[in-house]
Amino acid sequence: MTEPSAAVVRARMPTGFVPEIALILGSGLGPLADAVAEAVVIPYAKLPGFPQPSVPGHGGTLHLGHLGGVPVVCLKGRAHFYEGHGSGVMRPAIAALAELGCRGIVLTNAAGSLDADMPPGSLMMLNDHINFAGTNPLIGDRGPDGGPIFLPMTDLYDRGIREIFAETAAGQDIDLFQGVYVWFTGPIFETPAEIRAARILGGHAVGMSTVPEAILARRYGMKVAAFSNITNLGAGMAPDETLSHHLTIDRARIGAAALQNLLIGGLPAMAALLRGQS
Ligand code: HPA
Repeated sequence: MTEPSAAVVRARMPTGFVPEIALILGSGLGPLADAVAEAVVIPYAKLPGFPQPSVPGHGGTLHLGHLGGVPVVCLKGRAHFYEGHGSGVMRPAIAALAELGCRGIVLTNAAGSLDADMPPGSLMMLNDHINFAGTNPLIGDRGPDGGPIFLPMTDLYDRGIREIFAETAAGQDIDLFQGVYVWFTGPIFETPAEIRAARILGGHAVGMSTVPEAILARRYGMKVAAFSNITNLGAGMAPDETLSHHLTIDRARIGAAALQNLLIGGLPAMAALLRGQS
């Protein structure tokens, strides 16, 4: 199976360039795409199957180049289920990233915290998720035998890659939390009762993205790492605070610089793991 967008990207790729890691940058992390060295930038409008994000602050360009010395393809902005597309809205993009050669993917998001001890400005690496959206992007998908794809979700957020980023964080004096991300559809924020329920069920952060992309990445054979940039406490946990997209974008700046350093610092070891060299 070939994605038409992969052919468009390949035609623009410098000779001998094969991306090893893909990154999808969420709210407030766009500047990381600008850190990609000697980048070739392609607008999503030129990439069949890449929907233009309609959310302010979410970009809409693909960047090819090097980050931390690793050849990467970086998506500045993503489309979300809540924008009215199906939960498989990112399927063509993720399939293309795998087809271009990426064996691993790093997903980032802005998220609300379910733990008062993990305040805004904190970084959380996902070690699992709970899907509260009531759907997933593989519904209706067909495997090679024409039947449904019964895919295990165990260790979706790769253990070896998590160890790498935990070590990188320690070396950079970054307090990196690990926890369970709960996917709500959005675009509404959760109710305080939903936040209490998510906490009781074992969640540590809530957000409106990432889970469908992680599932799709596994579907296309990529190892996954994912990070939440905590922008607020969950609804009702900070009674004087009204949640808004503006607040998310504004607060995302706090953790963005540390997350940027963490990713750049850990990418070389992640690439080595993906090559089977560690
Ligand atoms: N809930 C869902 N998504 C979010 C939040 C939140 O509190 N903060 C940033 N993205």
